[in-house]
Amino acid sequence: MANTVIIGSQWGDEGKGKIVDMLAATSDVVVRFQGGNNAGHTIAVNGKQTILHTIPSGILHDGKTCLIGNGVVLDPFVFLQETDSLAENGLDVSPRRLGISHKTHLILPYHVALDRAREAYKAGGKIGTTGRGIGPCYEDKVSRIGLRASDLANPDLVRTKVRQALLEKNVLLQSLYKAEPLDPDKVIDQVLGIADRITPYLTDVSGVIQESMRMGKKILWEGAQGVHLDVDHGTYPFVTSSNTVSGCASTGTGVGPNNLDRIIGIAKAYTTRVGSGPFPTELNDATGDFLREQGHEFGATTGRPRRCGWLDAVILRESARLCGLTEIALTKIDVLRNLPVLKICVDYRYKGQRIEYPPQGENALAEVEPIYEELPGFSEDISTCKHFDGLPSNVQKYIQRLEALTQVRIAYVSVGPDREQTIIR
Ligand code: GDP
Ligand code: IMO
Ligand code: MG
Repeated sequence: MANTVIIGSQWGDEGKGKIVDMLAATSDVVVRFQGGNNAGHTIAVNGKQTILHTIPSGILHDGKTCLIGNGVVLDPFVFLQETDSLAENGLDVSPRRLGISHKTHLILPYHVALDRAREAYKAGGKIGTTGRGIGPCYEDKVSRIGLRASDLANPDLVRTKVRQALLEKNVLLQSLYKAEPLDPDKVIDQVLGIADRITPYLTDVSGVIQESMRMGKKILWEGAQGVHLDVDHGTYPFVTSSNTVSGCASTGTGVGPNNLDRIIGIAKAYTTRVGSGPFPTELNDATGDFLREQGHEFGATTGRPRRCGWLDAVILRESARLCGLTEIALTKIDVLRNLPVLKICVDYRYKGQRIEYPPQGENALAEVEPIYEELPGFSEDISTCKHFDGLPSNVQKYIQRLEALTQVRIAYVSVGPDREQTIIR
């Protein structure tokens, strides 16, 4: 398999974890390049479920190198909880196969406190963040006051940076948000208390990837969130704080973009979104409830019910354009079973015009009207299907119609949560 980037092509939770786990079998290195533990990536192997928030979804495969790139924001406390829990399940999570870039920014307790205080303070216009400190950590990175993983080897630097950061943040927390301030000494103790457990993982991620490629090994980049949560290209301001498009695989790991051979967009056969923001095909009716129930659409990170709606080909067309998708992996099509009619949004109506791509202005997506095409549903159980030709003809038609609408080949069709429940075309 060539070097491959996995991208969520909707608003997250498309099934990236499942597809990364499956493709990790034929890759050598799996690397996260953006986002943090706002992600919840679910893998199911023989019915046993694992949910990963910070560690790459290649970790269940023996001997595969798993890396956390510079573009990620890492909560070191969550990282250790996750390694502990994986180790209890007999997995090797030692620095022999798991690495963190020296340049990865750290999410510290004050980022989490600020994220939550800020959301609580807002009367309206809440983003509905995951409350994991993602935005405040990226803010510090861009403000050039962040702590990076390599700083953990330098206690004096940790002390100075935490004290300086809290000078500012405690004013905000106390005076504006009416929240509890944080004690700098306590935070410093907490951070230095885990430093010795994190520093062995420090890795030159760019160097390891380059060396692996030189040896003919294959790299798999694991995206988090989805294209329409991208801080530039998503439904701003209802987005996350990182770039989620494929280009970030290059900047977030220190590898030239010419090394990214395949760009696979993961797309759910319908659409979901957690948190606030426009969602043209959202269904606030019995069909929406059906999708939520049948698809178990409750957040893997926060447990929140996901908003559900019909498949939106306009959103996917935009993702194909923004990411240069070479293929799509279509997931959860089994969930559509027993719906008599399946609708796909093929274009939007916006200010009286029919448009093929989302309008560009802030929140303009909230003003579009979806134009639907109806396709016949299916009632057969497809969860054990192994070949495209074995799928009911109405399922094949749905897939082929989506290919025509996006002009991207659907290379994988996932028919259940388990690693094995995947049709490779
Ligand atoms: P991610 O964030 O993109 O990795 O996706 P999540 O793990 O948050 O959510 C996807 C959910 O759908 C998980 O519970 C998966 O186990 C499940 N899943 C993935 N693919 C399929 C599929 O083809 N069919 C069904 N029924 N469930 C799936
Ligand atoms: P995975 O990788 C779905 C959403 C949040 C919120 C917005 C901003 O599992 O697909 P943040 O905490 O990032 O500042 O929240 O982004 N969000 C996700 N939605 N899946 C995710 O990750 C998400 N990560 C963030 O719900 O609307
Ligand atoms: Mg998820």
